[in-house]
Amino acid sequence: MINIALPKGRLGEKVYKILEESGYACPEFTKDNRKLVFTNEESGVTYFWVKPSDVPIYVELGAADIGVVGKDILLEQESDVYELLDLKMGKCRMCVAAKNGFIQDTSRPLRVATKFVNIAKKYYNGLNREIEVIKLNGSIELAPLINLSDVIVDIVETGTTLKENDLKVYEEILSISTRLIANKSSYKFKFKEICAIKDTLSRVINND
Ligand code: PRP
Repeated sequence: MINIALPKGRLGEKVYKILEESGYACPEFTKDNRKLVFTNEESGVTYFWVKPSDVPIYVELGAADIGVVGKDILLEQESDVYELLDLKMGKCRMCVAAKNGFIQDTSRPLRVATKFVNIAKKYYNGLNREIEVIKLNGSIELAPLINLSDVIVDIVETGTTLKENDLKVYEEILSISTRLIANKSSYKFKFKEICAIKDTLSRVINND
């Protein structure tokens, strides 16, 4: 059996759909129930629906053999897993944003609000810029508006949230997309099965 951790939500459903059409369906899967585990003995797969940011933990600890997760989460958690494939979905950018017209005061540490503490620290370390991190769990864009921070480090997809809050991108840190990851020992011991799933996904994605 191959255990697959899928992120709850649109992306997870999209990846499931591809796998379903490629011979890895779970007949009991329906959108309308609250079930979290789906098994199909015949095609040898079990799916878990997990919170997107928990996918690397399941995979790193071997509860799932493979999983689907955003590059942002992988980098932030510095997960010890193999990255097998860029699924080219969920594309967005990790950016530094601030109020329109923002000017940095370089005489003091920059106050940075973010969910992505490690990514922000690494980025500013590389610039030799001292920062004070304010860890938030959501609605990051609020921080500079009420002077809780000078800037934010956050995900920008369409740019709508920034625009509607009179904020703008000042620096781009990295491009993000969804990745297929594998547990390191599963990759060794279930190599054939994992590669079959990877190749299936790769074929569909690259033909799209
Ligand atoms: C993310 C991100 C931004 C928004 C960007 O938030 O943190 O707030 O999406 O998308 P946009 O550029 O298309 O407007 P999410 O929806 O995950 O909610 P959050 O506030 O809990 O982080």
